[in-house]
Amino acid sequence: MTVRRDVFVEVANCILFRGAMSALLPSGIDLNNSEVRERLLPHCRLQAGEVWTDPEACHVVGCGDAADSSFVHTVMKERLAALLVQDPPYNVAVGVRRTVAEYVDWCRRWVCVSESVMAGAATLYVWMGADQKQHFQPLPQFMTMMAETDFESRSLITLRNQRGYGTQKNWMAVRQELLCYIRGKPAFNVQYTDIPKILRGYYKEVKGVVTENAERSRSDCIRPGNVWVDVQQVFYRMEENANGCSAQKPLKAIERIVLASSNEGDTVADFFAHSGTTLMACERLGRRCVTVDIDPIFVEIAIRRLERYRDTGKTGWQMGHPFEGELEEEALGVSEQL
Ligand SMILES: C[S@@+](CC[C@H](N)C(=O)[O-])C[C@H]1O[C@@H](n2cnc3c(N)ncnc32)[C@H](O)[C@@H]1O
Repeated sequence: MTVRRDVFVEVANCILFRGAMSALLPSGIDLNNSEVRERLLPHCRLQAGEVWTDPEACHVVGCGDAADSSFVHTVMKERLAALLVQDPPYNVAVGVRRTVAEYVDWCRRWVCVSESVMAGAATLYVWMGADQKQHFQPLPQFMTMMAETDFESRSLITLRNQRGYGTQKNWMAVRQELLCYIRGKPAFNVQYTDIPKILRGYYKEVKGVVTENAERSRSDCIRPGNVWVDVQQVFYRMEENANGCSAQKPLKAIERIVLASSNEGDTVADFFAHSGTTLMACERLGRRCVTVDIDPIFVEIAIRRLERYRDTGKTGWQMGHPFEGELEEEALGVSEQL
Protein backbone atom coordinates (compact mmCIF):
# COMPACT_ATOMS: atom_id res chain seq x y z
CA MET A 1 0.00 0.00 0.00
CA THR A 2 1.45 3.40 -0.91
CA VAL A 3 0.41 6.44 1.06
CA ARG A 4 1.18 10.03 0.19
CA ARG A 5 3.52 11.74 2.64
CA ASP A 6 1.09 14.58 3.43
CA VAL A 7 -1.63 12.03 4.15
CA PHE A 8 0.74 10.15 6.42
CA VAL A 9 1.64 13.29 8.35
CA GLU A 10 -1.99 14.21 8.76
CA VAL A 11 -2.97 10.70 9.87
CA ALA A 12 -0.10 10.58 12.30
CA ASN A 13 -0.89 14.00 13.70
CA CYS A 14 -4.58 13.32 14.15
CA ILE A 15 -4.81 9.72 15.26
CA LEU A 16 -1.61 8.57 16.86
CA PHE A 17 -0.23 9.08 20.34
CA ARG A 18 0.00 12.82 20.04
CA GLY A 19 2.76 13.44 22.55
CA ALA A 20 5.26 10.90 21.33
CA MET A 21 4.46 11.33 17.66
CA SER A 22 5.01 15.06 17.73
CA ALA A 23 8.59 14.28 18.67
CA LEU A 24 8.82 11.83 15.79
CA LEU A 25 7.37 13.71 12.88
CA PRO A 26 9.68 14.69 10.04
CA SER A 27 9.61 18.38 10.91
CA GLY A 28 11.38 17.72 14.22
CA ILE A 29 12.76 14.51 15.66
CA ASP A 30 13.77 14.87 19.29
CA LEU A 31 16.51 12.36 20.01
CA ASN A 32 16.60 13.34 23.68
CA ASN A 33 13.03 12.16 24.15
CA SER A 34 13.21 8.77 25.92
CA GLU A 35 10.11 7.42 24.15
CA VAL A 36 11.54 8.34 20.76
CA ARG A 37 14.83 6.72 21.67
CA GLU A 38 13.12 3.52 22.75
CA ARG A 39 11.38 3.30 19.37
CA LEU A 40 14.51 4.01 17.36
CA LEU A 41 16.99 1.76 19.15
CA PRO A 42 15.65 -1.50 17.61
CA HIS A 43 16.37 0.03 14.18
CA CYS A 44 20.04 0.65 14.98
CA ARG A 45 22.39 -1.93 13.54
CA LEU A 46 25.23 -1.42 16.05
CA GLN A 47 25.18 -1.78 19.81
CA ALA A 48 27.91 -0.74 22.25
CA GLY A 49 31.23 -2.32 21.34
CA GLU A 50 30.22 -3.25 17.78
CA VAL A 51 31.88 -2.15 14.56
CA TRP A 52 30.61 -1.74 10.97
CA THR A 53 33.03 -1.93 8.08
CA ASP A 54 31.96 -0.27 4.88
CA PRO A 55 32.11 -2.81 2.07
CA GLU A 56 32.74 -0.12 -0.58
CA ALA A 57 35.31 2.37 0.60
CA CYS A 58 36.83 0.84 3.74
CA HIS A 59 35.34 3.40 6.11
CA VAL A 60 34.81 2.02 9.61
CA VAL A 61 32.10 3.08 12.06
CA GLY A 62 32.06 1.97 15.68
CA CYS A 63 29.70 2.33 18.59
CA GLY A 64 31.74 3.06 21.69
CA ASP A 65 33.59 5.46 23.91
CA ALA A 66 36.21 7.82 22.46
CA ALA A 67 38.17 7.49 25.69
CA ASP A 68 38.25 3.68 25.59
CA SER A 69 41.69 2.89 24.24
CA SER A 70 41.03 -0.78 23.55
CA PHE A 71 37.81 -0.07 21.63
CA VAL A 72 39.38 2.73 19.59
CA HIS A 73 42.32 0.48 18.66
CA THR A 74 39.87 -2.23 17.57
CA VAL A 75 38.04 0.25 15.35
CA MET A 76 41.24 1.65 13.84
CA LYS A 77 42.36 -1.89 12.82
CA GLU A 78 46.03 -0.86 13.06
CA ARG A 79 45.54 2.09 10.73
CA LEU A 80 47.13 5.39 11.73
CA ALA A 81 45.29 8.65 11.15
CA ALA A 82 46.91 11.52 9.27
CA LEU A 83 44.11 13.73 10.55
CA LEU A 84 41.73 13.67 13.51
CA VAL A 85 38.70 15.94 13.67
CA GLN A 86 37.22 15.80 17.18
CA ASP A 87 33.98 17.51 18.14
CA PRO A 88 33.14 16.44 21.70
CA PRO A 89 30.18 17.69 23.72
CA TYR A 90 31.30 21.06 25.15
CA ASN A 91 30.15 20.80 28.76
CA VAL A 92 27.80 23.72 28.28
CA ALA A 93 24.44 21.92 27.98
CA VAL A 94 22.12 22.43 30.91
CA GLY A 95 21.64 19.32 33.02
CA VAL A 96 24.65 17.29 31.89
CA ARG A 97 27.42 19.66 32.88
CA ARG A 98 30.33 18.15 34.77
CA THR A 99 32.78 20.15 36.84
CA VAL A 100 35.41 21.72 34.62
CA ALA A 101 38.07 19.55 36.23
CA GLU A 102 36.09 16.38 35.44
CA TYR A 103 35.45 17.53 31.90
CA VAL A 104 39.10 18.33 31.24
CA ASP A 105 40.15 15.05 32.79
CA TRP A 106 37.85 13.25 30.36
CA CYS A 107 39.27 15.31 27.46
CA ARG A 108 42.79 14.39 28.52
CA ARG A 109 41.81 10.73 28.23
CA TRP A 110 40.34 10.90 24.72
CA VAL A 111 43.16 13.17 23.52
CA CYS A 112 45.64 10.58 24.78
CA VAL A 113 43.76 7.80 22.97
CA SER A 114 43.60 9.98 19.83
CA GLU A 115 47.33 10.57 19.97
CA SER A 116 48.00 6.84 20.17
CA VAL A 117 46.33 6.25 16.78
CA MET A 118 47.94 9.20 14.96
CA ALA A 119 50.59 8.86 12.29
CA GLY A 120 54.05 10.26 13.16
CA ALA A 121 53.16 13.47 11.30
CA ALA A 122 49.49 14.29 11.81
CA THR A 123 47.02 17.04 12.66
CA LEU A 124 44.42 17.13 15.40
CA TYR A 125 41.50 19.57 15.16
CA VAL A 126 39.24 20.03 18.17
CA TRP A 127 35.98 22.01 18.20
CA MET A 128 35.60 23.49 21.66
CA GLY A 129 32.93 25.62 23.32
CA ALA A 130 33.30 28.63 25.62
CA ASP A 131 30.43 29.33 28.00
CA GLN A 132 30.26 33.12 28.35
CA LYS A 133 28.16 32.78 31.50
CA GLN A 134 30.74 30.51 33.15
CA HIS A 135 34.03 32.32 32.56
CA PHE A 136 34.27 30.82 29.10
CA GLN A 137 34.78 27.29 30.39
CA PRO A 138 35.93 24.83 29.15
CA LEU A 139 37.99 26.48 26.37
CA PRO A 140 40.83 27.97 28.48
CA GLN A 141 41.11 24.88 30.68
CA PHE A 142 41.23 22.65 27.61
CA MET A 143 43.99 24.79 26.09
CA THR A 144 46.00 24.63 29.31
CA MET A 145 45.60 20.85 29.41
CA MET A 146 46.82 20.61 25.79
CA ALA A 147 49.90 22.67 26.67
CA GLU A 148 50.97 19.76 28.88
CA THR A 149 50.91 17.28 25.99
CA ASP A 150 53.45 16.73 23.22
CA PHE A 151 51.20 18.42 20.66
CA GLU A 152 52.35 21.65 19.07
CA SER A 153 49.68 24.35 18.87
CA ARG A 154 49.15 25.48 15.29
CA SER A 155 46.06 27.63 14.93
CA LEU A 156 43.02 28.95 16.72
CA ILE A 157 40.26 29.25 14.14
CA THR A 158 36.94 30.98 14.66
CA LEU A 159 34.00 29.99 12.51
CA ARG A 160 31.47 32.79 12.39
CA ASN A 161 27.83 31.70 12.44
CA GLN A 162 25.35 33.83 10.53
CA ARG A 163 22.72 33.50 13.21
CA GLY A 164 23.25 33.86 16.94
CA TYR A 165 21.60 34.58 20.24
CA GLY A 166 21.61 37.32 22.89
CA THR A 167 21.30 40.19 20.42
CA GLN A 168 19.36 42.63 22.65
CA LYS A 169 21.36 42.61 25.87
CA ASN A 170 24.74 41.39 24.78
CA TRP A 171 26.95 41.00 21.73
CA MET A 172 25.39 38.41 19.50
CA ALA A 173 27.05 35.05 20.14
CA VAL A 174 28.13 33.86 16.70
CA ARG A 175 31.50 32.21 17.17
CA GLN A 176 32.59 28.58 17.17
CA GLU A 177 36.16 27.81 18.14
CA LEU A 178 38.32 25.29 16.34
CA LEU A 179 41.74 24.44 17.74
CA CYS A 180 44.42 23.00 15.52
CA TYR A 181 47.38 21.01 16.88
CA ILE A 182 50.08 19.10 15.08
CA ARG A 183 52.62 16.42 15.67
CA GLY A 184 55.67 16.33 13.35
CA LYS A 185 55.31 18.04 9.98
CA PRO A 186 51.92 17.03 8.59
CA ALA A 187 50.34 17.94 5.24
CA PHE A 188 48.96 21.44 4.80
CA ASN A 189 47.30 22.25 1.48
CA VAL A 190 46.39 25.92 1.11
CA GLN A 191 42.66 26.51 0.69
CA TYR A 192 40.70 29.36 -0.87
CA THR A 193 37.24 30.73 -0.23
CA ASP A 194 34.82 31.91 -2.94
CA ILE A 195 35.28 35.51 -1.76
CA PRO A 196 36.99 37.64 -4.44
CA LYS A 197 40.13 39.56 -3.51
CA ILE A 198 39.53 43.27 -3.24
CA LEU A 199 42.93 44.41 -2.02
CA ARG A 200 44.96 45.90 -4.86
CA GLY A 201 48.07 48.00 -5.12
CA TYR A 202 50.27 46.07 -2.75
CA TYR A 203 53.57 46.13 -4.64
CA LYS A 204 56.56 44.02 -3.79
CA GLU A 205 59.90 43.30 -5.42
CA VAL A 206 60.57 39.60 -5.94
CA LYS A 207 63.89 38.66 -7.60
CA GLY A 208 64.29 42.16 -9.00
CA VAL A 209 60.78 42.36 -10.47
CA VAL A 210 58.18 44.66 -8.92
CA THR A 211 54.67 43.18 -9.07
CA GLU A 212 51.26 44.03 -7.70
CA ASN A 213 49.71 41.51 -5.33
CA ALA A 214 47.04 40.38 -7.86
CA GLU A 215 49.80 39.32 -10.28
CA ARG A 216 51.52 37.33 -7.58
CA SER A 217 48.44 35.48 -6.35
CA ARG A 218 47.54 31.91 -7.11
CA SER A 219 43.84 32.63 -6.86
CA ASP A 220 41.44 35.50 -7.44
CA CYS A 221 39.81 34.61 -4.14
CA ILE A 222 40.99 35.15 -0.58
CA ARG A 223 42.18 32.41 1.75
CA PRO A 224 39.98 31.62 4.74
CA GLY A 225 42.65 32.58 7.26
CA ASN A 226 41.78 31.76 10.84
CA VAL A 227 38.40 33.50 10.87
CA TRP A 228 35.94 31.66 8.65
CA VAL A 229 33.08 33.92 7.61
CA ASP A 230 31.95 32.03 4.55
CA VAL A 231 30.43 28.90 6.09
CA GLN A 232 26.70 28.69 6.63
CA GLN A 233 25.73 26.76 9.75
CA VAL A 234 23.31 23.93 9.17
CA PHE A 235 19.61 24.64 9.39
CA TYR A 236 16.56 22.68 8.36
CA ARG A 237 16.26 24.06 4.83
CA MET A 238 19.72 22.92 3.82
CA GLU A 239 20.06 19.63 1.98
CA GLU A 240 22.76 18.43 4.37
CA ASN A 241 20.48 18.79 7.41
CA ALA A 242 20.24 15.60 9.46
CA ASN A 243 17.12 16.26 11.49
CA GLY A 244 17.61 15.39 15.16
CA CYS A 245 21.35 16.09 15.06
CA SER A 246 21.39 19.40 16.89
CA ALA A 247 25.18 19.65 16.97
CA GLN A 248 25.80 18.94 13.29
CA LYS A 249 28.77 20.80 11.82
CA PRO A 250 28.64 22.25 8.30
CA LEU A 251 30.04 19.92 5.66
CA LYS A 252 31.86 22.88 4.08
CA ALA A 253 33.88 23.44 7.27
CA ILE A 254 34.81 19.79 7.67
CA GLU A 255 35.67 19.47 3.97
CA ARG A 256 37.96 22.49 4.30
CA ILE A 257 39.77 20.81 7.19
CA VAL A 258 40.03 17.49 5.36
CA LEU A 259 41.34 19.12 2.16
CA ALA A 260 43.86 21.25 4.03
CA SER A 261 45.23 18.67 6.42
CA SER A 262 45.13 15.33 4.63
CA ASN A 263 45.77 13.85 1.21
CA GLU A 264 43.73 11.45 -0.88
CA GLY A 265 43.80 7.91 0.49
CA ASP A 266 44.73 9.06 4.02
CA THR A 267 42.91 7.78 7.07
CA VAL A 268 40.90 10.46 8.86
CA ALA A 269 39.41 9.77 12.30
CA ASP A 270 36.53 11.34 14.23
CA PHE A 271 35.50 9.80 17.54
CA PHE A 272 32.37 11.96 18.04
CA ALA A 273 30.49 11.14 14.85
CA HIS A 274 26.94 12.39 15.60
CA SER A 275 25.50 13.07 12.11
CA GLY A 276 28.61 11.65 10.42
CA THR A 277 29.85 14.86 8.80
CA THR A 278 33.49 13.74 8.75
CA LEU A 279 32.43 10.41 7.24
CA MET A 280 30.57 12.30 4.49
CA ALA A 281 33.51 14.60 3.84
CA CYS A 282 35.87 11.62 3.56
CA GLU A 283 33.52 9.81 1.18
CA ARG A 284 33.32 12.86 -1.06
CA LEU A 285 37.03 13.62 -0.95
CA GLY A 286 38.54 10.13 -1.27
CA ARG A 287 39.79 9.67 2.29
CA ARG A 288 39.15 6.65 4.51
CA CYS A 289 37.21 7.52 7.60
CA VAL A 290 37.21 5.81 10.97
CA THR A 291 34.44 7.22 13.12
CA VAL A 292 32.88 6.40 16.47
CA ASP A 293 29.97 7.57 18.57
CA ILE A 294 28.88 6.35 21.98
CA ASP A 295 25.20 6.55 21.01
CA PRO A 296 23.86 3.76 18.74
CA ILE A 297 21.28 6.16 17.28
CA PHE A 298 23.92 8.60 16.03
CA VAL A 299 26.03 5.72 14.77
CA GLU A 300 23.04 4.54 12.74
CA ILE A 301 22.38 8.05 11.44
CA ALA A 302 26.01 8.41 10.31
CA ILE A 303 25.88 5.11 8.40
CA ARG A 304 22.50 5.95 6.88
CA ARG A 305 23.75 9.34 5.79
CA LEU A 306 26.61 7.70 3.91
CA GLU A 307 24.27 5.15 2.32
CA ARG A 308 21.76 7.84 1.37
CA TYR A 309 24.52 9.87 -0.27
CA ARG A 310 25.54 6.88 -2.33
CA ASP A 311 21.96 6.12 -3.33
CA THR A 312 20.73 9.64 -4.06
CA GLY A 313 23.71 12.02 -4.13
CA LYS A 314 22.06 13.97 -1.28
CA THR A 315 24.16 15.00 1.69
CA GLY A 316 21.33 14.83 4.23
CA TRP A 317 17.57 14.74 4.69
CA GLN A 318 16.78 18.47 4.63
CA MET A 319 13.30 18.58 6.23
CA GLY A 320 12.92 14.81 6.41
CA HIS A 321 14.84 12.65 8.85
CA PRO A 322 16.95 9.51 8.98
CA PHE A 323 14.29 7.20 10.42
CA GLU A 324 11.29 8.34 8.38
CA GLY A 325 10.94 4.97 6.61
CA GLU A 326 10.55 2.96 9.81
CA LEU A 327 8.43 5.56 11.56
CA GLU A 328 6.03 5.87 8.65
CA GLU A 329 5.68 2.09 8.57
CA GLU A 330 5.19 1.97 12.32
CA ALA A 331 2.59 4.73 12.17
CA LEU A 332 0.74 3.12 9.30
CA GLY A 333 0.74 -0.21 11.13
CA VAL A 334 -0.99 1.46 14.03
CA SER A 335 -3.43 3.43 11.85
CA GLU A 336 -4.43 0.25 10.04
CA GLN A 337 -5.26 -1.37 13.39
CA LEU A 338 -7.44 1.57 14.43
C1 LIG B 1 29.04 17.76 19.16
S1 LIG B 1 28.47 16.22 18.61
C2 LIG B 1 29.48 15.95 17.17
C3 LIG B 1 28.93 16.62 15.92
C4 LIG B 1 29.56 16.15 14.63
N1 LIG B 1 30.80 16.80 14.41
C5 LIG B 1 28.63 16.41 13.45
O1 LIG B 1 28.98 17.21 12.56
O2 LIG B 1 27.55 15.84 13.39
C6 LIG B 1 29.12 15.17 19.85
C7 LIG B 1 28.80 13.69 19.70
O3 LIG B 1 29.66 13.00 20.64
C8 LIG B 1 28.98 11.86 21.12
N2 LIG B 1 29.65 11.45 22.38
C9 LIG B 1 29.48 11.94 23.62
N3 LIG B 1 30.31 11.33 24.50
C10 LIG B 1 31.03 10.43 23.77
C11 LIG B 1 32.05 9.50 24.09
N4 LIG B 1 32.51 9.36 25.35
N5 LIG B 1 32.58 8.77 23.09
C12 LIG B 1 32.12 8.87 21.82
N6 LIG B 1 31.14 9.72 21.46
C13 LIG B 1 30.61 10.50 22.42
C14 LIG B 1 27.54 12.31 21.26
O4 LIG B 1 26.67 11.20 21.23
C15 LIG B 1 27.39 13.27 20.07
O5 LIG B 1 26.80 12.58 19.00
